[in-house]
Amino acid sequence: MIALQVDRLTKRFGGLAANDGVTFQVGEGEIVGLIGPNGAGKTTLFNCIAGYLHPEQGQIHVFGREVTHRRPDQICKLGVSRTWQLVRIFRRMSVLDNVICGAFNRLNATGAARKLALRLVAFAGLGGKEEVIAGTLTLADKKRLEITRALATLPRVLLLDEAMSGLTPAETGAAVDLVRLVHRDFQREFAGASGPMAICVVEHVMEVVMPLSHRVIVLNYGRLIADGEPEAVSRDEHVINAYLGQKYSARRR
Ligand SMILES: Nc1ncnc2c1ncn2[C@@H]1O[C@H](COP(=O)(O)OP(=O)(O)OP(=O)(O)O)[C@@H](O)[C@H]1O
Ligand SMILES: [Mg+2]
Repeated sequence: MIALQVDRLTKRFGGLAANDGVTFQVGEGEIVGLIGPNGAGKTTLFNCIAGYLHPEQGQIHVFGREVTHRRPDQICKLGVSRTWQLVRIFRRMSVLDNVICGAFNRLNATGAARKLALRLVAFAGLGGKEEVIAGTLTLADKKRLEITRALATLPRVLLLDEAMSGLTPAETGAAVDLVRLVHRDFQREFAGASGPMAICVVEHVMEVVMPLSHRVIVLNYGRLIADGEPEAVSRDEHVINAYLGQKYSARRR
């Protein structure tokens, strides 16, 4: 089954088409990497899918239901959750309360939301930090917390926008492990569903995104220029010219 379907999506900012007729799918259980140069339109695409921005043209379907002009909270309830390129946790609140806020999207009762949040904090490797004020966490843990809060909404499609940028190699490895764990176990442990989760990953570090992804999509100046297996995409001449040739400068950002 198709988890996420994006058809001919166009989003303009004045004269600039940040997304220009973008079409792709993410299958149930698939990890799809979304790559491309700075300003290519990756975050804009996530913002459109999550309902934070509305496109001028095109449609977005989540498990067959159209979500194109719905509000972010409605799209979240239909199973899409996301993290932000620059973390947007509630800094003055505890780790646990951040996750409880995510859980309130699904559960009204405080007790049930707290119970789910406690399980998720342990699952995501933040056990023991429940009462820590979120703003005092390391960047790696802030990003981990944002993923945990996103999971508390019980998504079926998770959008991760540079969840590993700015991390040390060891922290990056741990974050990759978390994404793999979420992909493999989250639905079974928390949603009573079998099978892995659909995850879309925006990332600039090719050594991370290529091995992690089943499929890779490349954006350049708002247009989709490649969609295929990581191995094939990394050999694609257009992709090398548009992006991969700059990968070392991208890594030095
Ligand atoms: N709210 C906005 N208003 C005006 N222009 C915007 C807005 N958001 C993004 N843009 C522009 O749209 C284009 C795509 O930006 P976007 O942030 O989606 O790129 P990106 O691929 O996520 O880049 P990066 O890798 O640097 O995060 C850029 O030219 C950017 O300046
Ligand atoms: Mg971005």
